[in-house]
This record gives sequence, structure tokens and C-alpha cells, in this order.
Amino acid sequence: MLGIIGGSGLTQLANLDVSHREVVRTPYGEPSGAITFGEIGGQPAMFLARHGYGHTIPPHEVNYRANIWALWHKGATGIVSVASVGGIRADLAPGDIVIPHQIIDYTWGRRSTYHEGEGCTVTHIDFTEPYDRALRQMILLAASDVGVSAHASAVYAATQGPRLETAAEIDRLERDGAEVVGMTGMPEAVLARELGVPYAAINVIANYAAGRADSKDGISFEAIEGVLRESMDRVRIVIDRLAGCHAEVCAAAD
Ligand code: HPA
Repeated sequence: MLGIIGGSGLTQLANLDVSHREVVRTPYGEPSGAITFGEIGGQPAMFLARHGYGHTIPPHEVNYRANIWALWHKGATGIVSVASVGGIRADLAPGDIVIPHQIIDYTWGRRSTYHEGEGCTVTHIDFTEPYDRALRQMILLAASDVGVSAHASAVYAATQGPRLETAAEIDRLERDGAEVVGMTGMPEAVLARELGVPYAAINVIANYAAGRADSKDGISFEAIEGVLRESMDRVRIVIDRLAGCHAEVCAAAD
């Protein structure tokens, strides 16, 4: 079953035909909210709002371990994370959809592994390719099937937030090789990897990153709201198609 984590601009999935909601208890505390179960285009799916349904949990306070564990526990065979980002690469404009392929992690102080605490043996995992390649390809295919254009790669920088970056920080991220910047991509991706659940992201460019183009003298939150409203409609169309593709692949693998 496809699991979808919605970020800012996607606290509900209008195309999810809801069957029930469930508050999942986890060994890691409370997830951001109840998981919503249902069907998308006739295929089972579940949805979790990363910042809570009232959008009250900031990026550094999200219980990523509980969220990913809850989706895994409920049988997620793939997790698609939807998140808004700032665009650093010059060709990425507000409203664009991007499927990132790499991550640079600048976050700190977040609980970012399941392999810690009493009785745990030291465990290292391979994270060379942080997103699941097959799921990324499936998202790109679904987007092209429904005529939604998406950039096929980007290096995602995960910053701590909740404040946005300074212009100099964005310059530094660019020198490091980052192309988009967001606050929630880590440790989500690594936790999914630790549990063995394929994970990929759909990023929506909400704004030019600080100090760039329209954001040269500051970032307009009003503009962001409008951009997200329009682009999340396109994301929903992609997810509609993706739910079907994911179910077909899972059925073939059974
Ligand atoms: N920076 C970090 N996170 C973001 C941004 C940004 O400019 N826009 C949306 N999420």
C-alpha cells in the first residue's frame, strides 16, 4: 500500500476516498496525527500530514521516527514524501515539481536512527543513493503519463528551520552542490531506509531561495501560498496515477 506524507500545502488529499482514520501507537512516541486510510483511484493508500492536521508541528519538532514507523507498521510498501522547497538552481521556478535524487543533510539534534538506545548493536546502513530508484522512476513515469512536467533530479539540502536561510547560507549550499532547499527531507529518508521501505520525494518549488531572483530582497509568504495551492493540485493528479502504478507493481511482485 502506498503511504503519502503531506507537507505544507498538502494537509489533506482530496482524491483519497477515506475509509477510516487510526491513531497508531509507536515505540517512538506520537506520530504527527492519525493516519488516514482509503483508496486513491480504487487503490488502497494511506496519508499522514507531517505537520499535523492543524499545521502546528514545526520541522525540527516533527517526530520523524514515529511517523515513518507508523506507516511501515501499517504496511506501507512505498512512501512518497511531498514537501515544498526553495529553488536554488537557476532553472527551478516557483510552481515547478522536482524529484530529487540526492541529499545533503544540515539538520542537527533530530532523532535520526532506530539503531540507538539500550541493547542496540552498532548498525551502519548504506545511504549512497538516498531515494529509492524504482519509486523515483515510477513517480516520473506517472507524471509524464498524466502530462505533468517534473524535473528528473536535484540535490536536496535539508536545513534545520524553522527560519528560512540567509542569502549567504544559500550561496554556501550552492557551492556545496545543493539545488533545492527544504527542512523536512531528513531524517525521514534515512529512517525509511533503515526500515527497508522504498522512499522518494516530490518537491514543489514554493519560492526562489533567499537572495535569488524574486527573493533577492526577501521571501514573500503571500506569494508562496498561491503557488502551493496551484501546484499541489498537480501533485494530487500525479499521486492519483502513481497509486495505480504502485499497486500494479506490488501485485506483479506477489
Ligand atoms: N528554504 C527552506 N525550506 C523551504 C523553503 C526555503 O526557501 N521554501 C519552502 N520550504
